[in-house]
Amino acid sequence: ARWQTCLRLARELLLVGPDGTDLKLGYLHTLIDTGRLGPTPHPRKKILVIGAGITGLVAGRLLKDAGHDVTILEANASRIGGRIKTFRATKHHQPFDDSAQYAEAGAMRLPDFHPLVLALVDKLGLGRRQFYNVDVAPGTGSGPDVLVPPVTYTSFTGRTWTYGDDSPDFREPDKRGNSWIRANRTQVRRADYAAGPERINEGFHLTDDEVRAPVVKMVDDALESVRDYYSDVVDGKRVNKPFEEWVEGWARVIRDFDGYSMGGFLRDHAGLSDEAIEAVGTLENMSSRLHLSFFHSFLSRSDINPGVRYWEIPGGSWRLPHALHQGLRDEVRLGHRMIRLEYHDPSRDTDPEGTGAVGPDGWGVAVQTVAENDPQAPPRLWTADLAVVTIPFSALRFVEIVPSMSYKKRRAIIETHYDQATKVLLEFSHRWWEFTETDWRDELDRIAPGLYEYYRLGAQVDAEPALTFAGPGTDLLAAAVKDSSVTEEMRQLNSTLPLRGPAVRPATHCFGGGSATDNPNRFMYYPSHRVEGSTGGVVLASYCWSDDAARWDSMRPAERYVYALRNLQALHGRRIEVFFTGRGATKSWARDPYAFGEAAIYTAHQMTSFHLDVSRPEGPVHFAGEHTSLKHAWIEGALESAVRAALAVHQAPPVTTPGADREGDRS
Ligand code: FAD
Ligand code: ARG
Repeated sequence: ARWQTCLRLARELLLVGPDGTDLKLGYLHTLIDTGRLGPTPHPRKKILVIGAGITGLVAGRLLKDAGHDVTILEANASRIGGRIKTFRATKHHQPFDDSAQYAEAGAMRLPDFHPLVLALVDKLGLGRRQFYNVDVAPGTGSGPDVLVPPVTYTSFTGRTWTYGDDSPDFREPDKRGNSWIRANRTQVRRADYAAGPERINEGFHLTDDEVRAPVVKMVDDALESVRDYYSDVVDGKRVNKPFEEWVEGWARVIRDFDGYSMGGFLRDHAGLSDEAIEAVGTLENMSSRLHLSFFHSFLSRSDINPGVRYWEIPGGSWRLPHALHQGLRDEVRLGHRMIRLEYHDPSRDTDPEGTGAVGPDGWGVAVQTVAENDPQAPPRLWTADLAVVTIPFSALRFVEIVPSMSYKKRRAIIETHYDQATKVLLEFSHRWWEFTETDWRDELDRIAPGLYEYYRLGAQVDAEPALTFAGPGTDLLAAAVKDSSVTEEMRQLNSTLPLRGPAVRPATHCFGGGSATDNPNRFMYYPSHRVEGSTGGVVLASYCWSDDAARWDSMRPAERYVYALRNLQALHGRRIEVFFTGRGATKSWARDPYAFGEAAIYTAHQMTSFHLDVSRPEGPVHFAGEHTSLKHAWIEGALESAVRAALAVHQAPPVTTPGADREGDRS
């Protein structure tokens, strides 16, 4: 039975459908090529979609276009999009001093090998440009007017699916690696680390062969034996084994490794030393995930790595859900939080405590909601033939469900591990990370002649120009910013915290990409593109997961921003302080009352214990959302699930028309 589970999981992971069809090709056909659920008209059904994240919007759109009567219930009263959220100026709120600036709170990068989301972005006409995970050399690569490459997907069936026109003039910019790696008080540029990892590796007390290997290579080598299960090396390249062996190979990987955490795998299976694991964890963003399943990090090794090309949506990721919402203005009902879900499953008893709305002669589902904007309002009842529940299981955990669902589904709702993620963003009036040393001189001396030298001399308090410029007792925080938003509380904190690192570090001079450090910021990202008409920019000062993320959630905002700035200064020098506008934005997904966590990231054994039960319908209730796919924490997984569930609901056998007045419940 365990082997059968592993085989089925492998097919689900690889999207192998019945008769060896490629489900992905089917999803691409449905969502992109035709935008239609199928040629066969099915009887019009009344459908409730719960959640207006990307999953609910896509499923809702497909079902609406197929002629069904769709209502999408969203708990959030002010926003659709869920975990796709951009901090940006709106009518009611301006997160940054410069109203043109924006930054991602959730999804920010779209990998080249996620064709559903890329083609959807193209189909909606949103445009796309590269997101640089590794910083690039400015002026290289084709300009913004050159057509981006078409979206392609090569199936295991041998077929290649393409969307978009050829782009013979498109050129990738040169990768540079000017951003930093800093650990154990040693700091080097990424490119230098790749060429000579010893200095950083020695900081981790690595010895022998390990000291000479960049951590990327250590992880890759450790994973080679797993890749051998399903692929062979041909001319130095990994090539999948023939179909049956490929699928069975993955099933064996699941059988042999689902019980491992990534930490356990690296130590017990791959034989890495504790120190090597510490180095890998720190630099490859794995420390916070070592206790989580091997599979999560294994799969994301291919998702997030320097070789992969990523894309972003100009103007922000929010434009994707927003574009879908345009065609669903009447269907989406904001501010209605599902608190109870009742459904009729002929194989189960109808709940005697129920509303009476569902049953053999009634509706298939009844959803009770409370109004977010009107806590006094009585709960509302919404009825339908079928429902597509897209909310995270972390949120569904707080919904009363009658009758209770199958045992394994309950376990999945109770146990699915949700990771935490926190992003701390800081706004600067100038893009100092792009500066050369000459730019630094020009820009600092423009603020006050001699300021450049002042910092170079170590920001001595008695240095003449700074004193004259700033006045006795005044610090230089936001010195370049007119009417900065730095608060008294921030200044106070800033003056009492000891400053780490020198006033000056070599100019970073980097465009896009990010730095990694063992200080609490952990991972920093610089914007890939400038915002038109703006000299400034927003730095993702910290993007953390798991325990690393939880630390930030314990702080007051002012404290968090001052610490985030300090930690940036540790890598970039104290002088960046002059450009801080005093504005920051934080998104903690663990504290988000709509997401209840970042994303479903399994712990060891969870995939084999219950993943096959996660998306299985319960009577008329269907399940979709990032967590129901095996591309956890990606939009692509959410989209796969949306098309899968929409197809299932569309093709579900006709429902018996309840005797009740079908329109009467909407009032
Ligand atoms: P959600 O977006 O969570 O949608 C669920 C909706 O249900 C929400 O709108 C919520 O308000 C609503 N809801 C919740 N409870 C109720 C209730 N009781 N009643 C009614 N409505 C309710 N993906 C990428 O592709 N690239 C990235 O770079 C990337 N980075 C990420 C970074 C972070 C920090 C995070 C958190 C996610 C990231 N992702 C990324 C993942 C991607 O954002 C998600 O996979 C995707 O947005 C999930 O969509 P969803 O519709 O499944 O869930
Ligand atoms: N898609 C996310 C990103 O690009 C990955 C998040 C993984 N999360 C985690 N806790 N490991 O950043």
